[in-house]
Amino acid sequence: MKTTLSVIKADIGGYVGHSESHPDIIAAAAECLKKAKKDGLLIDCQATKCGDDLQLIMTHALGAGNYDIHKLAWDTFVTGTRLAKKMKLYGAGQDLLADAFAGNVRGMGPGLAEVEFEERTSEPILIFMADKTSAGAWNMPLYKMFADPFNTIGLVIAANMHNGYTFEVHDVKEHKKIRFNAPEEIYDMLVLIGAPSHFAVKAVYHRDTGETAAVSSTERLSLIAGKYVGKDDPVCIVRSQGIFPAVGEVLEPFAAPILVEGWMRGSHMGPLMPVALGDSTPSRFDGPPRVVCLGFQLNDGKLLGPRDMFADKSFDMAREQANEMADMMRRHGPFEPHRLPLEEMEYTTMPQVMAKLEGRFQPLDAKGNGRYHKLVKKT
Ligand code: F6R
Ligand code: MG
Ligand code: MG
Repeated sequence: MKTTLSVIKADIGGYVGHSESHPDIIAAAAECLKKAKKDGLLIDCQATKCGDDLQLIMTHALGAGNYDIHKLAWDTFVTGTRLAKKMKLYGAGQDLLADAFAGNVRGMGPGLAEVEFEERTSEPILIFMADKTSAGAWNMPLYKMFADPFNTIGLVIAANMHNGYTFEVHDVKEHKKIRFNAPEEIYDMLVLIGAPSHFAVKAVYHRDTGETAAVSSTERLSLIAGKYVGKDDPVCIVRSQGIFPAVGEVLEPFAAPILVEGWMRGSHMGPLMPVALGDSTPSRFDGPPRVVCLGFQLNDGKLLGPRDMFADKSFDMAREQANEMADMMRRHGPFEPHRLPLEEMEYTTMPQVMAKLEGRFQPLDAKGNGRYHKLVKKT
């Protein structure tokens, strides 16, 4: 029997501000999922959080994109929103961009990662959840896990990994996708995935078997809504061990924090700090961005876990480094590269400011003074 793991998430209200989820909302969501499990729709489920995002972790036998599973997730978010409104939590219902469910949560605000597979003799799964950052934040970690031998020594010395992995890359602006084989096409691939606001790694496949190794959420809220409504706060599922990188190889990219898009008002670059679940409470300047990793052993679809993978002491240094990077970035205030470049600010107030100022711009000088002249070489 094939098992499907669906992780579907939405920010349906923050406590306090955008810093955390209220336990009553998580409890209400857990009740909704528990009922669906009792009714036989789900094999197993857990409701959890990352910062102000409600995370639904569900296993079932219905495949990815299933109507009933997506409706369950949507209805759970609607129930949570009702409670969030009653409690006057901040931004209640923020990520539910549609008025009613239309068959699939994709494109309606929530983020999702779903993967269907035949469970192996033992199936270790790692679920990454981020807050205060964008879809595309997984590009570098996934590249390191599945294509960088300096991170994943298994690529070099494990015979069942040596032929590499295939990356499915989505152009989130033009709605196109392309596949690259690693290692031989990594240079072409890096041209694209090095621009995570435009290209996002959607999935990774083991080349010898075609098995799905990783799936991530690539929904960009601002592109769906046409304005800034909150950050994507993406999730990512990674299968581990055997033909896939070991647990430690999957976690290793997060030991060296990188700068990602997000943080305050979704308009800044800041370090992605790996934290234990209890520390996913972005407070300083509404951040810095967080990543949590929950580990599970699947047992006939049942979720044995979670283990809070970044609670480990060996990530203390990464957290310290991330705090130092946060200080360094904050020093720039409203200046790039802390603030996002102009083209990424088009979903904020920037277009209105530019429209207001338009009539006030003057050519530098009609005579050309102040312009740059091409140097003509005398021959
Ligand atoms: C970041 C985020 C917050 C808000 C900020 C302003 O993803 O959601 O940084 O953008 O707190 O929120 P409003 O405009 O709702 O007061
Ligand atoms: Mg929020
Ligand atoms: Mg959030």
